[in-house]
Amino acid sequence: MSTSTATETGLTARYERAFPCSRILYERARCVLPGGVTHDARLLRPFPVYVRECRGARKWAVDGPELVDFWMGHGSLLLGHGRPEVVEAVRRQLEKGTHPGACHELEVEWAEMVCRLLPAAERVRFVSSGTEASLMAVRLARAATGRGRIVKLLGHFHGWHDHTEHGVDPPFDEPMSPGILPEVARQVTSIPPNDLAAAEAALAAGDAACVMLEPTGGGFGSCPLQAGYVRGLRDLARRHGTVLIFDEVITGFRVSPGGAQELLGIRPDLTVLAKVVAGGLPGGALAGRADLMRILEGGPGGRKAKMHHPGTFNANPLSAAAGMATLRIVRSGEDIRKANETAAAVRAEFNRILARRGVPGLCHGQYSDFHLYLFPDAGTLQGNPGRLGHHDPARLRAGASPPVPERFRLAMLLNGVDMPKLRGMTSSAHGEEELERTGKAFDAALSLLRDEGCFDT
Ligand SMILES: Cc1ncc(COP(=O)(O)O)c(C=O)c1O
Repeated sequence: MSTSTATETGLTARYERAFPCSRILYERARCVLPGGVTHDARLLRPFPVYVRECRGARKWAVDGPELVDFWMGHGSLLLGHGRPEVVEAVRRQLEKGTHPGACHELEVEWAEMVCRLLPAAERVRFVSSGTEASLMAVRLARAATGRGRIVKLLGHFHGWHDHTEHGVDPPFDEPMSPGILPEVARQVTSIPPNDLAAAEAALAAGDAACVMLEPTGGGFGSCPLQAGYVRGLRDLARRHGTVLIFDEVITGFRVSPGGAQELLGIRPDLTVLAKVVAGGLPGGALAGRADLMRILEGGPGGRKAKMHHPGTFNANPLSAAAGMATLRIVRSGEDIRKANETAAAVRAEFNRILARRGVPGLCHGQYSDFHLYLFPDAGTLQGNPGRLGHHDPARLRAGASPPVPERFRLAMLLNGVDMPKLRGMTSSAHGEEELERTGKAFDAALSLLRDEGCFDT
C-alpha cells in the first residue's frame, strides 16, 4: 500500500496486491514508452494490466489471474483468441513468406471475398489500419467532389488522423488533441446524431465532400442511431452530391456477414473497414463504388488525377490469411449469432443486477456489444432504450462521471473480468461459463464501488 488516502487503501491497494508483476513492467515501460502505454485506452491508474497469453474468450495476466476478456482485440476478434482455422492459416502463410514485395493470390481472394459479402463493395483497396482506411476515404471523397468539408456526427470515431478526430469524446467543442491545425479543424462540421434537420443544414451549403458515420451509432452504438435517420442521410447525401461514408471498422463482418449496410439495407458510397476483416491481425480496407475507387487508378486521358497510394504493408499476406480464414467462417452468420446471443445475455444479467441492487443504470446494446450507463438518471431509460438515441451523446459516450469508469475497470479486473471500462464486445468463443463468471464479477464490482462511495446501494 503506497499511501493512506481513502481510495488507495481500498480498490487501488487490492489491485496493487493482485497485480504486482504488472506494476514492475509498467515502471519499466514508463522509461521507454510515453505514458508507459502504446494505446491511450489501455492506460489505467495506478498501472495497466499486462497480459501474457490469450485463448478463446480468456486471457492470463503476467501476475497469474485468468480473465474473461471483453476487449476481444479492440473488436477485431469476433471468433475469439486463437481460433484454430485462423492460427493454421497464418502458420501456413508464415512458412511461405511474410512479404513477397509483389502482388499475391491471397490479396485477390481476400478482395473477392469482401466484394461478395459487403453489398456496397465493388472495389477494395487494402491498408494497414482503420485510421488509414478512414484517411483514404476522406481523401478520395475530396478528390471525387473537389470539395473540402467533412461532415461527421458527434461522438463518432473514425481513427486518430487530423481530418476526423473532432467531436469524438466530450467536451465536444474542445479540440481533441494539440497538433491538429485550426485550419484543418475548421474544415470539419460535427452534427448531433439523429437530427436530420442539422444534417440538411450542414449539407445544404454544398461544400461537403463527405458525410461520415458509424452506422449503428458512435462508439459501436453507445450513442445509438435510428435506421430512419441513416436512411435520411443516404437521401440527403445523394441530393447534395456528397459522398456517404460508412465507417464499418467495428460493425463490418460483426453485426452481419455484410456489415451494418446489409442489416439496414442502406448502401453507402464508401465503406471503411478494419478489425474483423483482417482476422485479428493488423489490416484495414476501403471498399466502395467502382467509379469512386477508380480515382486510385487515375482517369482515362488524365481527366481525373490519380490518387497516390503506397503502403509497405498493404494487403500483407499474414493479415490476408487471417482475414480470409475469418471471413470464410463469418459468412455463415453462425458465429455472429452466437456472439450476439452472449452479449444479449450479458446485458440482461447486468440489468437484472442493477435493478436488484437499486443502482441507477442501464446496460444497452444491439449486437455483440454492451454499454453501461451509470449516471444518476440512466435508470429512467430502462425498458425504453429507443429513447437513448435522443439522449445527450456526450453523456452516453462517457457512460458515467469520473472516476467511475476507471474504478469500475479495476473492480472488474479484481473479479476476473477485463472490460474496456464501461463497455465490452463478445465473441463466438464466449459461453455459459464466461457469462456466469461475468455476472458474479459485476455484482462484486458494484459492491466494491459502493464501498468506494461511487453508489449508495
Ligand atoms: C469506428 C472506428 N473507426 C476507426 C477506428 C480506427 O481503427 P484503427 O485503430 O485500426 O486505426 C476505430 C478503432 O477502434 C473504430 O472503432
